[in-house]
Amino acid sequence: MSQNIESHLVENRVIKPTREFSKHARIGSMADYRRIHAASVRNPAKFWAGEASELVWGRKWKSVLKWKAPFARWFDGGTVNVAENCVDRHARGDRRNKAAIIWEGEPGEKRTLTYGQLQREVCLFANVLKRNKVKKGDRVIIYMPLIPEAAVAMLACARIGAVHSVIFGGFSADSIRDRIADSGATCVITADGGYRRGSIVPLKHNVDAALTGDTTVKRVIVFRRANNEIHIEEGRDVWWHRELDYVTADCPVVHHDSEHPLFILYTSGSTGKPKGILHTTGGYLAQAYATTKYIFDLRENDIYWCTADVGWITGHTYLVYGPLANGATCMMYEGAPNWPDPDRFWRIIQNYGVTVFYTAPTAIRAFIKWGDEWVDKHDLSSLRLLGTVGEPINPEAWMWYHRKIGGGRCPIVDTWWQTETGAIMISPLPGATPVKPGTATLPFFGIDAAIVDDNGKEVGPNVGGKLVIRKPWPSMLRTIYGDRARYKKTYWSEFPGYYLTGDGARRDKDGYFWIVGRIDDVLNVAGHRLGTSEIESALVSHHSVAEAAVVGRPDEIKGQGVVAFVTLREGEKPTAELREKLRRHVGAAIGAIAKPDDIHFAEALPKTRSGKIMRRLLKEIAGGGDVKGDTTTLEDFSILSKLKLRDA
Ligand code: WT7
Repeated sequence: MSQNIESHLVENRVIKPTREFSKHARIGSMADYRRIHAASVRNPAKFWAGEASELVWGRKWKSVLKWKAPFARWFDGGTVNVAENCVDRHARGDRRNKAAIIWEGEPGEKRTLTYGQLQREVCLFANVLKRNKVKKGDRVIIYMPLIPEAAVAMLACARIGAVHSVIFGGFSADSIRDRIADSGATCVITADGGYRRGSIVPLKHNVDAALTGDTTVKRVIVFRRANNEIHIEEGRDVWWHRELDYVTADCPVVHHDSEHPLFILYTSGSTGKPKGILHTTGGYLAQAYATTKYIFDLRENDIYWCTADVGWITGHTYLVYGPLANGATCMMYEGAPNWPDPDRFWRIIQNYGVTVFYTAPTAIRAFIKWGDEWVDKHDLSSLRLLGTVGEPINPEAWMWYHRKIGGGRCPIVDTWWQTETGAIMISPLPGATPVKPGTATLPFFGIDAAIVDDNGKEVGPNVGGKLVIRKPWPSMLRTIYGDRARYKKTYWSEFPGYYLTGDGARRDKDGYFWIVGRIDDVLNVAGHRLGTSEIESALVSHHSVAEAAVVGRPDEIKGQGVVAFVTLREGEKPTAELREKLRRHVGAAIGAIAKPDDIHFAEALPKTRSGKIMRRLLKEIAGGGDVKGDTTTLEDFSILSKLKLRDA
């Protein structure tokens, strides 16, 4: 019986960077990548010190890394201010009148904040925080729509050393209550409401509901966004715009220790109870800065658009901190991709001349499902670089993205990382790495990633195993907030000294990393361990299929049977014949062992609010049971009941 995760899906397409792109790129060849990467893992401190030196420090660090596994201190002895690096240093220089944030609201309003204006807003609001007794080290909840003030609030916290915890605006009152209790937050920054798919999300109302009974929260600051009616609790709640009348924009930079906490972010929780991932200041900023610079290969005139919400780590690192640290112009859009029509994103790219576009595979699959005609209406020729993050991208979705959105000319960076890693860890460099659809390719500089077997031994090419990181990196989580024991146990106990990512993966003969799914989701079919992502990709490669999720179900003979949940493209009919075709299709692509025993057609799949399929729930349904686990992070509860009904 084999104990390694097997891999059967073969992807032979290789797409090289164009000569034109490579010529202008920071890293323009594989030889350069390999040379710098080899040196950087031999001596990570040297590489990271070089990157950190490009930032502004109050006092320089004494040591780059102090590592007492599994606790790291990066740039120890140094002091730094994130807001100064993301805003002031540009506002003081030639970028003062360059756009920092270009924003579009869902109803269509447009605003632009230059670096000079952003600096003023951040200083004003930092003074509002101080006036409301928020002090260094205090935890502050940010529960806002995707408006510039969300970034202003984050940067203002960073400026004064308050620790922000952003909660995605789609979360409920209960989720807010849990996160406040866990973090001990004393202040909440919110808005009256925000726009989503044409309606108003009652943010302030949810905050009110979260604050009933005992709470640590003393102050709620409310930004007026949607003008919906809200309750103001005298003595607790204040309006953002009124507070501005009492402050000036004079807020001198104070430098914080490099290891001072910058933020807590609760994980999306596709695997259960949310954890408060703690990130600190200097190391996080250095890696956010360096990865954005090299991987998006930013140029002065780029209009860079990361579609993530600030409620996710992607929104922290690649909508706010990374691009602003680089002095980039960031596009920010408040609402849904299909409002008022499924071409909203393409309209934005055309209207603003977006050059770099970074989104998630789940969104790409939705675009494919909605149909090419929505893309065809728009001129996307301003784009020069595309990115993806969040899940393995199915090769067929990759090809569509490349052809239809990138016009066949834009490199795609498939970036692998986690809330816990803080910044990108594995990714192509767009001017250097020949890419293959479906793989995040190779580790970033300074990152020592490997695939190991259950004994912690590195495996050879094309053998599946567990993805680990063998050396600390600057933007790594420092702990789970308030639970060092859980931090050690979750990430560092299986193989001492190695960080356990929780992902199953293999490396191909070129050393490229292929993520096959979360280890918890790996199937064991008649002694074969199969990752979910390859079977899903095989299904998605069929022209009728929009999206697929594969889970195991107890099977007396095989140990586990393969069950697939499939959504179809617009216009396709769920028939018994198609079901049989899809089974044969998987058999041909991967092998008989992976043929689904059951295929359920569904209208939609259950996802976390960050767009990840919740296989845990599907597993419970496939096993014939009720859904018992934590469903608080689920995007749309009605999907669950629909799935169950269809099975009945
Ligand atoms: C998990 C982390 C990182 C920001 C968004 C998600 C999966 C992420 C990729 C990718 C294959 C990926 C992994 C990882 N994942 N990016 N490019 N290819 N899988 O953050 O919610 O902390 O999730 O997302 O399974 O462990 P997160």
